[in-house]
This record gives sequence, C-alpha cells and structure tokens, in this order.
Amino acid sequence: MTYAFGVNEKGELQQIYWGGRIEANDPIAPAKSAKEQASFDSPYNNTPQEYAGWGAGLYMEPALKVTFADGNRDLVLHYVTSTKPDESSADVVLKDISRAVTVTLHYTIDQETGILARSATIVNNEPKPILIEQAAAAAYSLPPAHYTLNYLTGRWGGEWTLNRETIRQGQRVLESRRGTTGHQNNPWFAIARDGAGEESGQVWFGALAWSGSWRITVEQDTLDNVRVTGGFNPFDFGYQLKTGEKLESPIFYSGFTNHGYGGASRLLHRFTLLHVLPQAPTPKPRPVIYNSWEATEMNVSEAGQIALAEKAAALGIDRFVMDDGWFGKRKTDHAGLGDWYVDPDKFPRGLKPLIDKVHSLKMDFGLWVEPEMVNPDSDLYRKHPDWVLNFPGRPRSEARTQLVLNLARPDVREYVFGFLDKLLSENEIAFLKWDYNRNWSEPGWDQVPVDQQKKVYVEFTRNVYSILEELHKKHPGIEIESCSGGGGRVDLGILRYTDEVWPSDNTDPLDRLTQQDGFTRAYPVQIMLSWVTDSPHWMNSRATSMTYRMLVSMEGALGIGANLNKLSDDDLTTIKRLTAAYHTVQKTVTQGELYRLISPVNGTGGSSEFVATEMVSLDKSQAVFFAYTHSTQEGRDFPLLQLRGLDPKTTYSLSSIEGKTAPDTPAEASGAYWMNHGLNVLLRGDFQAAAFTLNKK
Ligand code: GLA
Repeated sequence: MTYAFGVNEKGELQQIYWGGRIEANDPIAPAKSAKEQASFDSPYNNTPQEYAGWGAGLYMEPALKVTFADGNRDLVLHYVTSTKPDESSADVVLKDISRAVTVTLHYTIDQETGILARSATIVNNEPKPILIEQAAAAAYSLPPAHYTLNYLTGRWGGEWTLNRETIRQGQRVLESRRGTTGHQNNPWFAIARDGAGEESGQVWFGALAWSGSWRITVEQDTLDNVRVTGGFNPFDFGYQLKTGEKLESPIFYSGFTNHGYGGASRLLHRFTLLHVLPQAPTPKPRPVIYNSWEATEMNVSEAGQIALAEKAAALGIDRFVMDDGWFGKRKTDHAGLGDWYVDPDKFPRGLKPLIDKVHSLKMDFGLWVEPEMVNPDSDLYRKHPDWVLNFPGRPRSEARTQLVLNLARPDVREYVFGFLDKLLSENEIAFLKWDYNRNWSEPGWDQVPVDQQKKVYVEFTRNVYSILEELHKKHPGIEIESCSGGGGRVDLGILRYTDEVWPSDNTDPLDRLTQQDGFTRAYPVQIMLSWVTDSPHWMNSRATSMTYRMLVSMEGALGIGANLNKLSDDDLTTIKRLTAAYHTVQKTVTQGELYRLISPVNGTGGSSEFVATEMVSLDKSQAVFFAYTHSTQEGRDFPLLQLRGLDPKTTYSLSSIEGKTAPDTPAEASGAYWMNHGLNVLLRGDFQAAAFTLNKK
C-alpha cells in the first residue's frame, strides 16, 4: 500500500494518494487544493482534507469541532511542521490559523501488511478552556468510482451479519452510542471497487481501535468523492480541554489490497497477530477450554465442578473455566454482581481445592468475572449507590437487573483493579473470562463539574484499558477473554489487552458458520472462541451430530461447553478424537492464511447449502480445509473444491480428519493440482461436515 499526503498551496494537509503500492520515486503530483465547482461546492469541502476542522464553511464530516471560550466555533487547521519521517512513521503538526489549538497527526505504517495506523493528539494552548464536540482519529478519502461498502451488524445472539451495499451520495453512519463497542455494529469497514470479489480486485478497509461509543461515517459528496471518518462518537460528546491539556484519539487503522475480500481479511488477521494482541508478535495457540456455563449455569459447586473437570481432562482439554455463579449471593442474575468474594455456600473451602484438582488433572484454571457491573441487590451497591452511572434524582434503568459502575471515577477504578488483583494474587488463575452484560443508560457523572461530566465516554474506556494493562503487568502471563453477552465488545482496542473473544452466546453450529464467516472478515481465527454445546440447541431447537458441531468449532479456537454429564459415550469419544486431531492442526487453522472457498454468505449457485473454508500455514507446508452442508437438495454434489494459497510445485499428501473424498482423488499431488484440478468431497444429507489436511511431502 502507498499512502501519500502533502501540504497544498493554502497550507492545508490533504491526501494525495491511497491505494496499491507505487515506487518511491514515482512522480506523485504535489498537493493542490481543489477548485470551487460552484458557489455551493467550496474548495475546502472538495479537497480531500487529512483532518478537517469545522470551519470555513465545511459541510463534509469534520474531523474536529470545537467551541472556544469566547463563542468562536470556527476552526481551520493548517500545516505547521512535521518530524522527519523514519522508515515507517511520521508526526505532522497542524494548528488553527489564529488560535493556539494544535493537532498532531500520528502515522505509522506496517512494513509487512501495509496497514496504516493513524491517530490524533489535540492540544489546547489557548488561555481559556475549549470544548471539543467532535474528534476523529483520522479521515480517509477515495476518488470517484463505483464502490461497495461492507460492514457488520447484529444483535444479541445474532452478531456478525455481513452487509453489502452500493455507496451512493449521502452518508452511511456506522456507530455505537452504547458506551461500548456493541453487538449492533462493529467498528470495521471494507470498501470494494467495482469488480472486486473474494480473491481479486481492490479493497480498502479499516478498523477503529476503540471500545467506547464510536462512529465511522462513509460519505460520498456531490462530486462523488468518498470520505471515511472515524473516531469518538460525537453524539452526546463534550470533552473540555483546559490550557495545556490534550485529548488523544483512538487509532483508526486502514489498509488496501488487490486481492479482494479474502486478501483484506488476511492482512488484518496478520496485522492483529503481529501488532495488536497482548502476545504479539507470537501469540500462542489458544488452549482448548472447557466452560461449564451451559452445563450448570449459576448452579456451581465444588463437587459439581470437580466432576466436570475430571470428564473434561479425559477428553484432552487444556483449560477448565468456571463461569458465572461462584461469588457473592449469586444464585440467579438478580444478585451478587459487585461482591467478588467466593460464595461460602457453594465453595466452603474456597476455590483452592477446585483449582488444585484442575491442576492435578493437567489443566489450568480460568474464572468468569464481570467487573464493571453491580446488581442493586449486592453489598457493594448498598454501600456505594453513587458508584453507578446515573443522573441524580432520575430513574436508573436496569438491564438483566444490573447497573453499570462508573469506571471513569478513580475510586471505582481502584476498587475494580483491587479485587481483580487480589483474586489473581490469592489464586492460581491462568485466565479470566471478562464479561460485560449490558449497555449504558443515564450516563451521568455528577462528582465532577458539569462541564467535565461528558468526559465519562472517554475516561471510562481508558480506565478499562488501564486496569487490563496493569493486570498484565502485575500478573505476567494472565490471559483474558473479552465477552459482552457474546460479541458485544470486539474491536482492535480491547484486543490489545485480551487474548480471545466470545463471538456470540449463540452456539448453534449452523448459525455459527455464518457468524464465523462475518467475524473473520475483520478479526483473526486465533481469537474466535467457538464452543461445542448440547443438541438440540437451546436457541434454535436444531439437532445436529457431535461430528458436525465439532467441525464447526474446529474452524475457530475450539472449546467445549456441553454438559459432559449427559453426553453419550459415542459423543465423548468423538470429542476426544477430534480434539486430538485439532491439536495437530491448530496452528495452521488459527494462525494461517484464511481462504473462504465457499462462503455461507454468498454460497454457490445462489444457495448457501454448502460452505468450505481453508487455512494455509505461513510456510505453505500445511493446509487444512473444512466442508459443510446443512441440507443437500436435488441430489446436488458438493461443489468442486479448488484450494488456494499452496505452493504449486510442492507435493502435498492428502489425509482425512473426518469424511471422504471421491474415490479417484489421489493420495498425493502437487499444489498446482489441488489448486487447479481440485477435488470432490463426498457430503450428502443434513448437517454433514468433513475436514482434511494437505501436508508437504
Ligand atoms: C453472558 C456470557 C455467557 C455467560 C453468561 C453468564 O451472557 O456471554 O457466556 O458467561 O453471561 O452470566
């Protein structure tokens, strides 16, 4: 990717080029302000501004909007200086044409993936405070063309729906006003040029690294230019800067590929593994976990958990996780959140006997927490009713009978860090499942002056990050899952501190195939936890075989969440056999290059009855591919699979993890053969699945 920007004759910083890589000494035209098209289309609007202040008659989305103490609201940013760019980064300082407000734009480009990280630091050096009403991390521009916008939407139990629509004049707003990332919309986009497909064509893409209220606008102006602006959600936003104070924006990443949607995903996956995750650049393959939530819900006990742990260990599970219900007076979801002491009724001897047992079974131990929440029926709330987000004298809307602690408050932050630190210091805990089961309401913060109260949107999220960061420092090696009633908090901001995420509470395997397809548009397989649970499924009442369920979860970070006390011996044997097989291919599956051979979203021949996914190890020595059908019709055969990403000259031998290929399939052949000639998988019936490996000879 090449990203070029420069200063035009007026002193504005403008984008000159964003697209496929060109050579360093290719003649890039100097920055030049656009002309006035008509008296209604000013140059300030028509020029692809890198970071436009709201002023001078700007009608496009501004990057920054402020109100000065004297009522002036005109802000026009001009170039001042820049640090000499090194190989991969540069800082550029802009300043208002008359006022002492500066913005430093930060640029860092990753040499391997071409992914650009952009953010902004806004500083007020005026003698009086200013109010920031809108602050983006970055704006990106594309020239007039026919484009398709891709974005992800969802709801609880139905996250990761891929949407595709033609970009037309006007604005499409992707956002969360919920105080957190949200299930409803994920801060990711991909824009494809006409003609782009899964493996070819131009795709520009980006993701915002922020777990609070966020917004990305994609707008096409009257001259057909496209601009993408992303950062803090300006809705209900107001961040006051006193003299000398600054506001740092989140990072808005962007990238470009000539290799279609698949290429875009692979670049983001690689980048996330190399530069974002806590264990970057070499994250360990995720332990296969057992989680008892669907088996026991909150009805946990020492004996019950030990019985499940023994059964899990026999299946080859690496990590045993106890979910909700172990603390306070947590018999149902009506009480207990906030009281993070072990429930003496359920665990009279504390957690140690259970943890010791789990260790003796050669697994490590993980625990569920929901640190940012409180039930009104809790000791914590009775003691500190003022600790929750609220407007005094107004109702406090509950969701799942809980309220949100105001983590922007330093004392609340200390409490939350304190109990987590204590929990990790006193117990041998390898992993926290960090949950967050509602969105904000009545986001008041009345302990600070009125003109500071809206800072809650920024300070809350920053304190979540700072707690996670401090926990990592104090407890090196601790691994954390980001869960929010499923996939409500998945973004490149939280992923700096969390090793995996829970994509959805919906574990129905058929639904999961579509969700996993949507999820991996933006995020890597490495972090995509996927449990095998009971059948018929509680959400859709759909019955599926254990093999089908296992193979669906095996295209992610495998976990088991079924009730092991109730599974048949056959099912237990299947779990054990396939878990062992998974361990042998896990690195390729979760850290390799992902190819959507047949996506459940666009299917084949207009139908989504078939799905196929392939992952190839980075050194191309191994490929793993999965094939699924939910119901074959009219006797149709599974479509010919032509693999991708192999080395054409290397000989690969084929073996089956599960399922059969057509009898004439060779046992070994060149990469060119598997990619061009392809092979036929034999799959027929309802909810059938198969998986194979190709290994370099
Ligand atoms: C949320 C999570 C579930 C489970 C429950 C526990 O819904 O997404 O996996 O942990 O909370 O209350």
